[in-house]
Amino acid sequence: MIEINNKRFEVYLRSKEIESLVINMANRINQDYKGKDSVLIGILNGSFVFIADLVRQLDFDPILTFTKLASYDGTQSTGQVDELIGLKENLKGKHVIIIEDIVDTGNTLEKIVEIFKGKEVASFEIVTLLFKSCVYKKGIDVKYFGLDIPDKFVIGYGLDYDGRGRTLKDLYSLKKS
Ligand code: XMP
Ligand code: MG
Repeated sequence: MIEINNKRFEVYLRSKEIESLVINMANRINQDYKGKDSVLIGILNGSFVFIADLVRQLDFDPILTFTKLASYDGTQSTGQVDELIGLKENLKGKHVIIIEDIVDTGNTLEKIVEIFKGKEVASFEIVTLLFKSCVYKKGIDVKYFGLDIPDKFVIGYGLDYDGRGRTLKDLYSLKKS
């Protein structure tokens, strides 16, 4: 049990179990992307630990890059504009794999998919360690996920609560008080 800012968290998934999820996902990705001109795009910050473990199980050599989703008020009447900070690679004709830590409602994913429209990629898939299918509201296919979890708030293994908990080796879930 750990406590962060008066919230208590209990172990949800041990690092050994996370490791086997990561290996299973990497095996599938290795099979599907062997020989393809691929670009892996890690969505920071939460996915950084997962990405580091995942890429060391890959047996092909993709381009690996990182980005962060930013939203700002557009000057047009359309309202909010989303962009992926620092993404400079030309993705035309590439097999793009987005790497996320967790897909929850899918709002973030939807914004990302919107940004990739018109980039003329060869293919586009999502990899996420955790997937809350019970609250997922979008139609976008999440092809590769490590574990389908109930609607719990989780931290550790890169994921944070108020910026804390990212360095924990196991995953923890918020304890209901
Ligand atoms: P949506 O709802 O847009 O959420 O799919 C995706 C983003 O929200 C964050 N998120 C979490 N972060 N523990 C976290 O530390 C969680 O349980 C959690 N659920 C969502 C995360 O940044 C993710 O990319
Ligand atoms: Mg995230």
